[in-house]
This record gives sequence, C-alpha cells and structure tokens, in this order.
Amino acid sequence: MLNKDIVAKINKQINFELYSAYIYLDMSNYYSDSNLGGFANWFRIQTQEERDHAMLFMDYLLYNGEKVVLEDVKAPNFTYTDFRQPAAEAYAHELKVTAAIHDIYAAAYDVKDFRTMQFLDWFVKEQSEEEKNTDEIIKRYDLFGNDAKGLYLLDAELGARVYSPPSLVL
Ligand code: FEO
Repeated sequence: MLNKDIVAKINKQINFELYSAYIYLDMSNYYSDSNLGGFANWFRIQTQEERDHAMLFMDYLLYNGEKVVLEDVKAPNFTYTDFRQPAAEAYAHELKVTAAIHDIYAAAYDVKDFRTMQFLDWFVKEQSEEEKNTDEIIKRYDLFGNDAKGLYLLDAELGARVYSPPSLVL
C-alpha cells in the first residue's frame, strides 16, 4: 500500500500526462494544417509518448493495489502565430512536467517511499531527454527555420522520427 498523498499526486500526474498528450496532438494538427508533415509527425509521436507515460503511472497504481481516478482532461487552449511557437510552448510545458515529477519524488523522499522513488528514477531521466529534445527543435528552428529551404530540411528531419515504446518495465 502506498501513502495516500503519493497516490493523489500520481493520479494528478496521470491527468497531466494525458493533458500533455492532448496539447501535443493539438500542435501536431496545427503543423499538419500548415503542411509541415515532419513537425506534425514529431508531435504526434510525442503524443504517443505522453500517453505511454500516463499508462505507466496508471499501471504503477494498479500494480500496487491503489485506485486510479480519471478526471476530465483540459482542452488545449493555444493559438499559434508562427511555426516556432508550438515548440517554445512544448519546451515550457516540459519544464512544468519536470517540476511535477520532482514534486512527487520529493514527497516520496519525505515519507521514505523508496519504491516510488525507484519507479520515478526513469521519469527523472526521461524528463532530461524531453527538455533537451524540445529545446533542440527551438534552437534548430532559430538557425534554419526562417529560410524556406532550411525549414523544408528541418521538416524532413523531424519527419524521420519513429515511435519506440518506453523502456520502463514495472
Ligand atoms: Fe510525459 Fe513530456 O513528459
């Protein structure tokens, strides 16, 4: 049995990961509408990863005999004025996800919940990758994105991303 506060925080995180999936889907659709299929591909795969994160948190609660509580997922509420903006929003969002995961980790540390800390280790590492990947898109966009040929090549590069399932096993 897990600490009640930890269970509540993980339930909240499930919702946050599903919201993350939802906003990346919105970003993917924006790029699709803008005929940037590579960007759209990258963000759609990001949606799949976020769904995986939600499932991992959910499975962790179920594995430990705890109740999963699914709440409404907030609608994405962004208006994009240029192609750079979704990537910038994605990076800002990942910083929030990192903070949320660190918050659960700190709570687990406080109550000596070593099991949850060990489970969260994967997410701590994953977040450094999530931040790096989104930040890289912004930096590459700033380098090449304002030139039509550069944008075309960057779109092709992002179009090459393929989905791979998470390496974490409960
Ligand atoms: Fe599930 Fe992008 O953090």
